[in-house]
Amino acid sequence: MKARFEGRVAIVTGAAKGMGLATAVEMARGGAVVVLADIDAQALQAVAVELQRVGSVTTVACDIQDRKQVDALVQGTRKGLGRVDILVNNAGLLLPGTIEETTDDIIGRTLATNVKGILYAIREVCGGANNGGHDRKPDQRRVVSAGQRVAASTPGRHGGTPTG
Ligand SMILES: NC(=O)c1ccc[n+]([C@@H]2O[C@H](COP(=O)([O-])OP(=O)(O)OC[C@H]3O[C@@H](n4cnc5c(N)ncnc54)[C@H](O)[C@@H]3O)[C@@H](O)[C@H]2O)c1
Repeated sequence: MKARFEGRVAIVTGAAKGMGLATAVEMARGGAVVVLADIDAQALQAVAVELQRVGSVTTVACDIQDRKQVDALVQGTRKGLGRVDILVNNAGLLLPGTIEETTDDIIGRTLATNVKGILYAIREVCGGANNGGHDRKPDQRRVVSAGQRVAASTPGRHGGTPTG
């Protein structure tokens, strides 16, 4: 029987741990060639050897807040693996603390990661700002974004039901 992701090329962001790592492992087990991207290069390195036993994987250090790094991740994948079929936009910040403790810096990093970073990745996978080289027809692309908890669901606190 053909494996679920056989022949697919997938990028998973925030893949050094947690749900991103679990998703990347499942996709690799299902036959995909998986590019694991994360801001934490050390954590990526720590899982890389183990991952080789699971399937076809490669790791790339990438901060999705930085458009140039995101573009390089997607373009490097295309160059090395031929195309990008699946993007799992998993990298994100879940910030603890009350709304009173939420500084401008925290708001800035949250928006840069959970909003801008995700849009940079989707745009580049869908052809880039200059609309260069689509890999698949629009209805064949697969983009998954993990729910981001940006809004406060309980008075004074972040968290609760994922909003997106
Ligand atoms: N765990 C939950 O209950 C929950 C609930 C709702 C939404 N989410 C969202 O799901 C996703 C995964 O959750 P998790 O619990 O596995 O998270 P996690 O904190 O365990 O892992 C997140 C990973 O993303 C990486 N990362 C953070 N900022 C990054 C950046 N700028 N560029 C690249 N990588 C970056 C981190 O280094 C880490 O490896 C996150 O986006 C989170 O916001 C999680």
